[in-house]
Amino acid sequence: MPYPYQIKSLEEYRSAYKKSVEEPEAFWADIAENFQWRRKWDEVLNWNFKEPKIEWFKGAKLNITENCIDRYLPEMAEKPAIIWEPNNPEERTRVVTYARLHKRVCQFAQVLKNNGVKKGDRVCIYMGMVPELAYAVLGCARIGAIHSVIFGGFSAQSIADRLEDAQAEFIVTCDGAYRGAKDIPLKSVIDDALIGNKLVKKVIVYTRTRIPVSMIKGRDVWWEDEMEYAETQVEKDGVVSFPAEEMDAEDPLFILYTSGSTGKPKGVVHTCGGYMVWTNYSFVNVFQYQPGDVHFCTADIGWITGHSYIVYGPLSAGATSLMFEGIPTWPDAGRFWDIVDKHKVNILYTAPTAIRSLIGFGEGPLKGKDLSSLKTLGTVGEPINEEAWHWYDENIGRKKCPIVDTWWQTETGGILISNLAGITPSRPGWATLPLPGVQPVLVDENGKEITEKDEEGLYKGNLCIKAPWPGILRTTYGDHERCRTNYFATYENLYFTGDGCMKDEEGNYRITGRVDDVLNVSGHRIGPAEVENAINMHTGVVESAVVGYPHDIKGQGIYAYVIFNGRGTPDEQTKKDINQTVARIIGPIAKPDKIQFVSGLPKTRSGKIMRRILRKIAEGEISNIGDISTLLDPAVVDEIKNGKV
Ligand code: PRX
Repeated sequence: MPYPYQIKSLEEYRSAYKKSVEEPEAFWADIAENFQWRRKWDEVLNWNFKEPKIEWFKGAKLNITENCIDRYLPEMAEKPAIIWEPNNPEERTRVVTYARLHKRVCQFAQVLKNNGVKKGDRVCIYMGMVPELAYAVLGCARIGAIHSVIFGGFSAQSIADRLEDAQAEFIVTCDGAYRGAKDIPLKSVIDDALIGNKLVKKVIVYTRTRIPVSMIKGRDVWWEDEMEYAETQVEKDGVVSFPAEEMDAEDPLFILYTSGSTGKPKGVVHTCGGYMVWTNYSFVNVFQYQPGDVHFCTADIGWITGHSYIVYGPLSAGATSLMFEGIPTWPDAGRFWDIVDKHKVNILYTAPTAIRSLIGFGEGPLKGKDLSSLKTLGTVGEPINEEAWHWYDENIGRKKCPIVDTWWQTETGGILISNLAGITPSRPGWATLPLPGVQPVLVDENGKEITEKDEEGLYKGNLCIKAPWPGILRTTYGDHERCRTNYFATYENLYFTGDGCMKDEEGNYRITGRVDDVLNVSGHRIGPAEVENAINMHTGVVESAVVGYPHDIKGQGIYAYVIFNGRGTPDEQTKKDINQTVARIIGPIAKPDKIQFVSGLPKTRSGKIMRRILRKIAEGEISNIGDISTLLDPAVVDEIKNGKV
């Protein structure tokens, strides 16, 4: 058996789970034996959630790229590591074997070195979904630089904020990116982000769309030139090598920015050893990957799902990972099914929002597509509604493929609660059982464990985790206190997820959504405070409040209440201007779906906005607003109700 730690039956799951709780150190030491360490750990786990301080495999030395690439050579040299499907189906597919991946990652590591990047330096990556993005990420990991990938939909301002927060000195980008019918001018966004930036020394630019770009002498260099030169350095007599930096298990691997209910996005930090073990273990077990399978995760590497289940999880397991540059609906809504058919995809992992958008096109786009290679389907990012689940099951899985509903977060590094494909039962809308090593607990507002069932026979509360698993975040970059207050201070000795949840008598979990103000739009986390700050940047806006409302495709849409005091009466054009402002400040992904102009906002006497009321109105629950007696000006509620858009 290729993965000795792959769970093969419900009984094995139960005994693995039991051991992981009773003897976590012995359990994880056994699993960690399956990786390549330069030096083994002195201690498996050392932790307290108070500070928090979490250390896995302390004292161990490794380089994650040796685990993702070198250890599969030469045996798997010709096996595809990455299959790349371009945006335009007429363009040629690229197949990157493990040998080729090794060469490119060595070359790119050399490029980074040639450009002055050292271990611990922060490298910001802002690229489209091309294999070079994977080379860039792994090249950083090879020399021990900390990568921070930024999704291509973020604006120059967002990038500038992240560059500043991470104190990044290097950027890797593309001239442009193709996404459906659009060409996105990435380098030009980077140029805007760099106005006034004094820290960034080098920008490496990969050529993808050949849109004209400005190239500044001394700062900007072409990827292709750099790679060509590096090739002469890393390849001697046909042998490719670039010595991987020796990393401590607890050295940072990457920073990934994510939104919370307040303030600016925070840089979630994951470390080398624990993250590697967790992404690999969860990948192998949840998807039940078998050697030779083609795994297609449709996420962008700009999000955690792409980091963990396109790059690190699959590659550390010697898998074949399919990377797609485009979008599900271009040139038509059959694009995913063409890819499944063309590449004989075995595992398809996507978001409920993508499924819902494809349902809208009916079964037509499925006609003539051979989906018989599919063995496992997965969903991630948001609760899946039963209609979407059944459509996925019937039309894509032909009722033969288990669907894994995987619940996790940027902060958790990998999947925490999910059924294991074909091994533990699936249930529509339920993430079901925790993975070994994960100890969920539901608590009430005071942190007291929920021990009583409600009238439906379910336990309901806020979802927390009692003890660390190897993939848990270690800190938020540059601000450990923020990490503590965000995740470890709400309830004593618990990691608080921010999600509401229910549990049945058999111990299955169903995630009901965020209990804080954080929005989840198309499976992406958006901070309401960030959107409000962006709206408030518009010259005519006095104040705003942003809440989520149910959206048929996106799961949640963004509803903005705006007090406007600018020139003239605000109209549709004003809304467009506000949207444009948000796109400039955060990025197009944060544009409100609905804007309602109001003369005031419901506030308590202490000046706090009552979001509960705004949420109810946005949800259309106008007759059921609840108590408004504590409001400073209750009359404003009627006005808002009457003006609902
Ligand atoms: O609310 C949960 C929701 O997405 C949040 C995490 O968002 P992010 O860090 O962007 O990571 C998304 C990809 C892992 C969670 O707090 N969420 C994620 N997966 C599910 C989910 N909600 C319900 N069911 C899921 N399977």
